[in-house]
Amino acid sequence: MTKTITGFSKLTKEEKIDWLVETFFTDAESAKNTLKQYSNSDKKIQELHDDFIENTISNYYLPYGVAPNFVINGKEYVLPMVTEESSVVAAASLVAKFWSTRGGFKAVVISTKKIGQVHFMFDGDFDELQDYFDKNKTRLFEVTESITKNMRKRGGGILDIELRNKTSELKNYYQLHVTFDTQDSMGANFINSCLEVIANEFKNSKIQIVMSILSNYVPECLVRAEVSCKIEELYENDAEMYAQKFKQAVQIANVEPHRAVTHNKGIMNGIDAVVLATGNDFRAVESGAHAYAARSGQYKSLTNCEIKEGVFKFWIEIPLALGTVGGLTALHPLAKLSLQLLQNPSAKELMMIVATAGLAQNFAALRALTTTGIQHGHMKMHLSNIIKQLEASESEATYLLNFFTDKQVSHSAVVDAFNELRK
Ligand code: MEV
Repeated sequence: MTKTITGFSKLTKEEKIDWLVETFFTDAESAKNTLKQYSNSDKKIQELHDDFIENTISNYYLPYGVAPNFVINGKEYVLPMVTEESSVVAAASLVAKFWSTRGGFKAVVISTKKIGQVHFMFDGDFDELQDYFDKNKTRLFEVTESITKNMRKRGGGILDIELRNKTSELKNYYQLHVTFDTQDSMGANFINSCLEVIANEFKNSKIQIVMSILSNYVPECLVRAEVSCKIEELYENDAEMYAQKFKQAVQIANVEPHRAVTHNKGIMNGIDAVVLATGNDFRAVESGAHAYAARSGQYKSLTNCEIKEGVFKFWIEIPLALGTVGGLTALHPLAKLSLQLLQNPSAKELMMIVATAGLAQNFAALRALTTTGIQHGHMKMHLSNIIKQLEASESEATYLLNFFTDKQVSHSAVVDAFNELRK
């Protein structure tokens, strides 16, 4: 039986499901049931999700958790987090509480500039091109006026349009490098619309437009979050030694790309969870963050640590293009709820919150790695998950949790202990 189909998108949802389950599943009924179980019984909610993308056949749920007790610039927050990784929310909550009694997190937005580019080819004299651009620059602003009107009212808009000569990297290649302030919106649609209108102005010229698109590399849309305390407040015992080990862990991530990637992955555990919960684009944030981590030519840590005059300081600097209006933030009821939970932040405030989530996550990981090791905490969560899967009773769960306090946790070891207990 053929596994290809034409006109799939034109089928009704039921027809799509029927074709899929009959073509790819031995137990069609069970596959159909699973898809149905994860569909929302509220017709309006399901229709909303159906319309986010093409060919929706069900919903893919991830847990929506919260991490309380964050203090950022003196303001208290509960962070909404969407993630499937078991230790992320617990780690964020622990670290939030820890720093809430040590002055909290301090954060500052360094800059908010976004970037878009019109990439084009020109086979001719650069001075002539520059002259043509200088003469038409005002016109390029003018043609976008109807699109930028509302954004300008909110204090944003196009900041500058610059002609860049890239011919030393690729023959005949130039670009219009356009900078934007998109205020509280992430601005992807706004930027792309402006670029296409600008590019259209060159329709009848010697310029050959290749493409017009925003850049997800936004090194000038930058935020910094920081924590600091006296070394003796950091650990109960051997504080100086542990503080040094913590700093060495950051230094290692700064010189060793293999470690840096894992180190930054841990940061993104926190960042992505809040980015997702607030309906923002985590792929844009991810790609921009990793490009920033590699800006020196070597992939490095996004966090830094300093120990000076008995004070431990730990900070993150990360580019974050986020929005609190428009896009999914307005459409997805849970994204809206997340923003309400965060007390309706501006995009700048959200940048500070998200950077803090990343810093907190990295703090938790490094503290665990340089003391007890990461598996200690992970395995505790893993153990509870296995106990749940086994559908253990409350007393059986208590027994198993006690039993494994001083033993290595593995799926088979827990199953064996469980079977032994039930014997
Ligand atoms: C796991 O998701 C993240 C960590 O590996 C991060 C790190 O090693 O720093 C624990």
